Amino acid sequence: MKTKLLYRCGECGATSLKWAGRCPGCGAWNTLTEEVVQSEKRSASHRSKAPEITPLKGLSALEESRITTGISELDRVLGGGFVKGEVVLLGGEPGVGKSTLLLQAAEKLASQGHKVLYASGEESSSQIKMRADRLELPGENIFLLSTNSAEEILESLDSQEYAVLIVDSIQTVAYEGLDTGAGSVVQIRAVASGLIEKAKTTGLIVVLVGHITKGGELAGPKVLEHLVDAVLYFEGDRFHQGRILRAIKNRFGASFEVGLFEITGHGLMPVENPFSLWESEERSQETGVAILPAIEGARPLLVEIQALVTPSPFMGNPRRIFLGVDRNRGSMLIAVMEKRLGVKFFQDDIFVKVSGGLSLQDPAIDLAMAAALLSSKTGVRAKNNAVFLGEVSLSGEVRPPYLLTPRLKEAVKFGFPLIVTAPSPDLILPEGARIDRIKTLTGLRSYFHKRTEP
Ligand SMILES: Nc1ncnc2c1ncn2[C@@H]1O[C@H](COP(=O)(O)OP(=O)(O)O)[C@@H](O)[C@H]1O
Ligand SMILES: [Mg+2]
Repeated sequence: MKTKLLYRCGECGATSLKWAGRCPGCGAWNTLTEEVVQSEKRSASHRSKAPEITPLKGLSALEESRITTGISELDRVLGGGFVKGEVVLLGGEPGVGKSTLLLQAAEKLASQGHKVLYASGEESSSQIKMRADRLELPGENIFLLSTNSAEEILESLDSQEYAVLIVDSIQTVAYEGLDTGAGSVVQIRAVASGLIEKAKTTGLIVVLVGHITKGGELAGPKVLEHLVDAVLYFEGDRFHQGRILRAIKNRFGASFEVGLFEITGHGLMPVENPFSLWESEERSQETGVAILPAIEGARPLLVEIQALVTPSPFMGNPRRIFLGVDRNRGSMLIAVMEKRLGVKFFQDDIFVKVSGGLSLQDPAIDLAMAAALLSSKTGVRAKNNAVFLGEVSLSGEVRPPYLLTPRLKEAVKFGFPLIVTAPSPDLILPEGARIDRIKTLTGLRSYFHKRTEP
């Protein structure tokens, strides 16, 4: 057995034999940490058994049996419940409700006879008991272990036939045998690997809680996200009591699913009608805004495009300011609107902004931006429950966006069932959605006629 030193990047997992200020793999600064590796030189002759190759044909597919939690929004995000041997990482900011959600899920699983081991490195067993009492969970078949030791967790798993293990959180658990402290890249990798191996060999379902850094990233190595089967984010800042559970990655389900919850004194309650959470008095009076189900990476995200069109004090040289939208794209759209819709902007200052400080590359932003501009210019607000979606060509034609289905799902989910977009042949309408098809920019006009409010 040989011992050597390695430096591993906490972001991308790249390794280097020498320490460097900047990761040679991903270019991040100050992310390399020392790691001791014990390597056993292996050669082909040391292999104990030949590789096992199975013909695909004739292999019987394993009936994927789901273990549902009965918490509808959680099951949906998981792709229909947990799968045996699955390892799920649940990330979120402190206080968002990770421990609450998992204790509620544990109760549901336990009440079906699945034994749950809840290992906490953050709270004592009596603190968890207090939460269970507050949530009025009886706690039968739930076993608590307050520890920071990975060895203890693995040992405890042998004492009973547990179906589910919850580790709250991965950053507070460490192998006593390893030199570095809990939360270090080395520890997180080691603890996760140990538990993943256990899950894969025994069918145990493992849920790891992960902390979020200030930047909104899961703390710890990026590689952790690659190791686990599913990565869920629990977010809470979009509306007051509302919580959003998002699948960022899921080997056993769709990765763009979202679940909605409301946090109450009795814990997290699934939200059936999200429109009530979004809709506000002020919103319904606003002009110059349009909702767009944008795509960021592969992930749908509902954003608000805001526009302000106001008479310019600078005759002949009005201001054009775009935040989060490409300036050329915006200027081009304004020219197309002038030409095709006959709206004159040359005496107006124009400001366009994407809510939440986001910067969008999505070409489907055009129609929403046009709607926001037209709304501000005419002083007429768009229909409350509509989203606008599509790229606009120089001829004023509206083109259907890519990844339409996840966008529609996101819009409907958040209470915007009316989708204004271009006709698309391969469109599958999600339940509850309604489509207004417009072929050209002129079709937008009908939404911004002055109308008498009922
Ligand atoms: N004793 C309590 N009474 C009422 N609400 C509480 C109590 N303790 C925690 N909460 C609420 O539950 C929320 C979620 O807490 P928790 O599940 O511990 O979050 P996390 O595990 O994500 O840090 C907290 O933000 C708080 O609003
Ligand atoms: Mg917690």
